[in-house]
Amino acid sequence: MKTRILLTTTSYQDIPGPHHQMLEDSGFEIIRERGPLSEERMIELVGDIDGMICGDDAITSKVIDAALPRLKVISKYGIGLDKIDTGYVEEKGIPLTFCPGVNHTTVAEHTFGLMLSLFRHIVEEANYTRSGSWTRLSGHEIMGKTIGIVGLGRIGREVAIRAKAFGLSVVGYDIYWPEEFANELGIKRVDSIAEVFKEAEILSLHTNLTDETENMVCAESIATMKDGVVILNCARGELVNTQDMAAALESGKVGGYGADVLDVEPPPVDHILLSAPNCVITPHIGSRTHESVQRQAGMATRNLLNFFAGKPAEAQANKAPWPNA
Ligand SMILES: NC(=O)c1ccc[n+]([C@@H]2O[C@H](COP(=O)([O-])OP(=O)(O)OC[C@H]3O[C@@H](n4cnc5c(N)ncnc54)[C@H](O)[C@@H]3O)[C@@H](O)[C@H]2O)c1
Repeated sequence: MKTRILLTTTSYQDIPGPHHQMLEDSGFEIIRERGPLSEERMIELVGDIDGMICGDDAITSKVIDAALPRLKVISKYGIGLDKIDTGYVEEKGIPLTFCPGVNHTTVAEHTFGLMLSLFRHIVEEANYTRSGSWTRLSGHEIMGKTIGIVGLGRIGREVAIRAKAFGLSVVGYDIYWPEEFANELGIKRVDSIAEVFKEAEILSLHTNLTDETENMVCAESIATMKDGVVILNCARGELVNTQDMAAALESGKVGGYGADVLDVEPPPVDHILLSAPNCVITPHIGSRTHESVQRQAGMATRNLLNFFAGKPAEAQANKAPWPNA
């Protein structure tokens, strides 16, 4: 019987690179879908596949049950495992591989793109000039401001490096503090997420989505922040309470929100943040550069092929307590 692989990630499929040939050369039958897929759609598809290269599709216990006994491996394209019921995958003994260390520079660059867009009104101004209007708004420098970074993992650290180069002061918090890196770069360590919230003029979120981090930016925590704080979120939409963020943007308490992610993706047309003031949202493209996609797709493909060849994966998520452990 031919090995059948479900491939759902769109950037993998849309961007050229050697990963296409690598997958082709495997001789596997590839079932191509445009994700991220709902639980319902996944259940329809997974019954007769041996492996998957997935993005942010819903991989719930029901999906796993529908995929067994045939499913042998899940190769997650990317790093965030929050849409996967990892506990259940582990319980069923299915190897889950992922792609750490391939997209952090690309996402950090995107974070700066959003930051500069907000401080210099770049999106608004470009829209004005395109429509024939020479409307000159005044922005703010970022030099000398304090950026608070929550989560100094791979992406958070790249943001810190760039922040230093832009002349920002950096304060940070992580449950695993990168001592050597922080000392070298001169990052001020604080004792909690709440402390970062209090000190930041620019707040950048880079944690995984977990029970503790979900909704960490909400009305209650926003009230403790500096007036006019600019918040950046290239991690996960669910870290921020959407209604509370919209209200804080309306009142001006939050001076700007730059997000690459939303609680619902793609969002409904009436999603409240799409029309909120001082809000720049991109459609989850933080890691979608040709360079990053080729690295990530190469790794996801090698992880899958290694499994079927009986070799170890380059990175197996359900062998370490934390992705960057
Ligand atoms: N926008 C995109 O396209 C895109 C691309 C890649 C990753 N991401 C997201 O970015 C986030 C970070 O990715 P990464 O590659 O840096 O991951 P990472 O695992 O290297 O870093 C995450 C860090 O968050 C820390 N953390 C977890 N829980 C915490 C808590 N309660 N308090 C403080 N720190 C906590 C971890 O210790 C870790 O250091 C993830 O949510 C990931 O899903 C988004």
